[in-house]
Amino acid sequence: MGKDPFAPLAEAYEAWYETPLGAFVIAEEEKALRALLPPGESLLEVGAGTGYWLKRLPYARKVGLEPSLAMLQVGRRRVPEATWVEGRAEALPFPGQSFDVVLLFTVLEFVEDVEKALAEARRVLKPEGSLLVGILEALSPWAALYRRLGEKGVLPWAQAHFLTREDLKDLLGPPEAEEEAVFLAPEAKPPFPEADQAGLRAGNRGALYLGRWR
Ligand SMILES: C[S@@+](CC[C@H](N)C(=O)[O-])C[C@H]1O[C@@H](n2cnc3c(N)ncnc32)[C@H](O)[C@@H]1O
Repeated sequence: MGKDPFAPLAEAYEAWYETPLGAFVIAEEEKALRALLPPGESLLEVGAGTGYWLKRLPYARKVGLEPSLAMLQVGRRRVPEATWVEGRAEALPFPGQSFDVVLLFTVLEFVEDVEKALAEARRVLKPEGSLLVGILEALSPWAALYRRLGEKGVLPWAQAHFLTREDLKDLLGPPEAEEEAVFLAPEAKPPFPEADQAGLRAGNRGALYLGRWR
């Protein structure tokens, strides 16, 4: 990566999850992610950030790969039980067939070569392993906000490029299972569960699309 867009954000990265809206959103995302979790011993999270998911996911061997030293340092401090490795999705420093599960959660938005990153994720999966990919859906109201912030130079969005679920399926083929979450908009008013249902009825795409591939 040229300049690290996450460097100034690392220490406060999880602070938004403490706000009422942030807590609702992250809980909805966790429900969607847990619904797709495959069994297995070993998990690699590519672009593991501060280790928010690594800390919570129930695998015996957890490895976090992260290119941002600032994020990696926070992650290593918060999730010392995981193994942390500096590296990039496009060139994973692991032998083939190393992991039961590989997770990329809102990371493809920031990688330079999405196809290479997905090919690498598949290379390091064991033959019966599962690839879990979560994206910030390009056609959701949240991506509209983040795109605008990016145009104004706000980090990390200034360096993001968004995918739709159709883009992801074009790259990976049809998923064996999928989930969608967070239908409310960024300016939703509480109660958030009602706003989320209203967003769903209104036809909003969920901010999070998650798929599982073999
Ligand atoms: C939005 S954060 C998500 C972090 C974590 N997956 C989570 O959900 O909490 C995106 C992360 O992807 C990382 N990233 C950016 N470019 C990357 C690349 N080429 N390979 C791997 N990770 C990358 C960033 O440093 C950042 O930590």
